[in-house]
Amino acid sequence: DSSSGPKTTSNDLVEIMKNSNKRAVVFYGSQTGTAEDYSLKFSKEFQSKFNVPTMTADLADVSFENFQNINNEIPDFEIAAFFMATYGEGEPTDNAVEFFDYLANECDDLSGIKFVCFGLGNSTYEFYNAIGQKTVDELKEKGAILIGELGLGDDGTGTMDEDYLAWKETLFDTIKDTLKLKEQAVKYQPAIEVSEKLEMDKSDLTVSLGEPNKHYVNAKSDDELNFLKYGPFDHTHPYLAPVQNTKELFNSNSRHCIHAEFDLSNTNLKYSTGDHIAIWPSNSNEKVDKLLNILDLINKRDTVIDLKSLDSTLHLPFPTPTTYDTVLRHYLEISGPVSRQFIQSISQFCPNEETKVEVEKIAGHKENFHNSITTKYFDIADCLSYLSKNVKWNSVPFSFIIESIAKLQPRYYSISSASGMEKQTIHITAVVEQEKIKDPSDKFITGVTTNLLLNIKQKQNKDGDLKLIETYDLEGPRNMFHNKLPIHIRRSTFKLPSNPSTPIIMVGPGTGAAPFRGFIREKVKQVENGNKNVGEILFFYGCRKSDEDFLYKDEWTEYSKKLDSKFKMITAFSRETEKKVYVQDKLLENSSKVIELINKGAFFYVCGDAANMAKSVQKTLIQIFKDEKKVTEEIASNMVKQLRVNNRYQEDVW
Ligand code: 2AM
Repeated sequence: DSSSGPKTTSNDLVEIMKNSNKRAVVFYGSQTGTAEDYSLKFSKEFQSKFNVPTMTADLADVSFENFQNINNEIPDFEIAAFFMATYGEGEPTDNAVEFFDYLANECDDLSGIKFVCFGLGNSTYEFYNAIGQKTVDELKEKGAILIGELGLGDDGTGTMDEDYLAWKETLFDTIKDTLKLKEQAVKYQPAIEVSEKLEMDKSDLTVSLGEPNKHYVNAKSDDELNFLKYGPFDHTHPYLAPVQNTKELFNSNSRHCIHAEFDLSNTNLKYSTGDHIAIWPSNSNEKVDKLLNILDLINKRDTVIDLKSLDSTLHLPFPTPTTYDTVLRHYLEISGPVSRQFIQSISQFCPNEETKVEVEKIAGHKENFHNSITTKYFDIADCLSYLSKNVKWNSVPFSFIIESIAKLQPRYYSISSASGMEKQTIHITAVVEQEKIKDPSDKFITGVTTNLLLNIKQKQNKDGDLKLIETYDLEGPRNMFHNKLPIHIRRSTFKLPSNPSTPIIMVGPGTGAAPFRGFIREKVKQVENGNKNVGEILFFYGCRKSDEDFLYKDEWTEYSKKLDSKFKMITAFSRETEKKVYVQDKLLENSSKVIELINKGAFFYVCGDAANMAKSVQKTLIQIFKDEKKVTEEIASNMVKQLRVNNRYQEDVW
């Protein structure tokens, strides 16, 4: 398998760069792949624009031991770039933890090393871009020289792309002057070679059709077979888990919410209540066909292709040999919004002059792009068809497609089962994303994974009446998963108190109820195990209407019976009365009960929408402290902060 494993044996950064004649390096601290994607684009553009051989590196993949000597070891070394995402409550991404360890404990002097930094954050959360700032501060403290300014990418306002473009434009000018580099026109230089393998056919066992861990699928040795069963499974190697007991949770013609269960009985994969499950999706038939069509590849979708990396520092992003169809279906993020940068860079492959004029008009201007593309929710295929008036883009190198479109990323869901109750099954609760937009009027915005789950549910329940907006190749031949999906587990810090008698207050409208169903099932198990001292449980739940989208409506009374008087559920139905009623209104109504439980040491949990709901809930809790404890707003706010510090206020929000 030529996609796995670095080609150089040492992971010493300086040695790798020396061996491959690189003069610049772009690092990424990435959790969900966004920072990685930006770093790759930056690296390619920098290399082409200034003719400086540049490598991209995962912060966790290289050793920084000799980094401080880089200017001596590589006399024409130019610059290090850092693309740093901020995660959770101002934490570094998993792959950046060791790098910060290195800065804090192992590195003394980085003087003379020039660097740039772009932070990826979300202004709806506290600690906005804290890690980008920390990177700059700590590198500067060691004497490294920041060129230009820290870039601030904001996912919260949805302006990440424009933030990046604006930062990059000024920065490139500054870099050019400071490093005295010569600029040339940016031209695509392939880093991957794609060749069609006409002599091979698809029944060839080595051809990857998207199976996870393909390397092991045809395995012969016990070790390799064991890997398929026992992993370890993580964000690079998922477990192919059977999906079962799928069912609809809404009672509505237009909206769907899927309950699905993943079977772990054939593996030693474990989770604990409150964790997240990552599901690795594949793209819908419609999305794949649309893109194959406009790229003029539809007639050779199943042709076997071989990929070769032309750069010793670049790992192939997926297994080879494979097919055109597989690449678009399993590995590339083809259904999200298209970026202006992508249109700018594909303009060199326009099918005709007319298209080129149109592309320049639209990609060259932020406002034009926003009005013609972004507000219409065009994906890549929509956008290409629109720009060329449906003329096929038949001269775009496929390597360009692979290198320019972000990798398809797993999607994370809060687990709604309890590891105490069901050790070998993971439940999820997922609303199907299907939003109809007005312009263009036949278009839906659809979620990749949730529509895939809806397809699986329809197939398993044989409810053919359901009209699907998008279909997936569940029976093959282009998707080999059948009723299985690749998954891995992400540990979370969203956990029940370790003492079962500690009371808990949970606030979770909509699918925010998911982890709380897990918590409550865990509590039921504690009682069933003979624990007589289970603490009080107060659950604030909200949805639109009691007979429409009330999740697991019949289950709660069952839990209530089993938990006796310990469990109380308080509901807010937002669309049953003239005035909307939300969970925070109910919270306020129950102020004295809330304070009574907090005084008894209760843990307070919030799950669901981050931008509005979680913020209002926090404000309401401060209000409750203020009223009930008769203190000032400032003191109340500090009390709530203190709860957070003591881990008694926990959020699982998105
Ligand atoms: P709405 O859609 O009727 O406005 C689950 O989505 C529930 O959360 C729905 O009842 C929804 O109400 C409600 N909701 C929407 N915005 C909210 C907010 N800012 N705070 C709390 N609940 C909200």
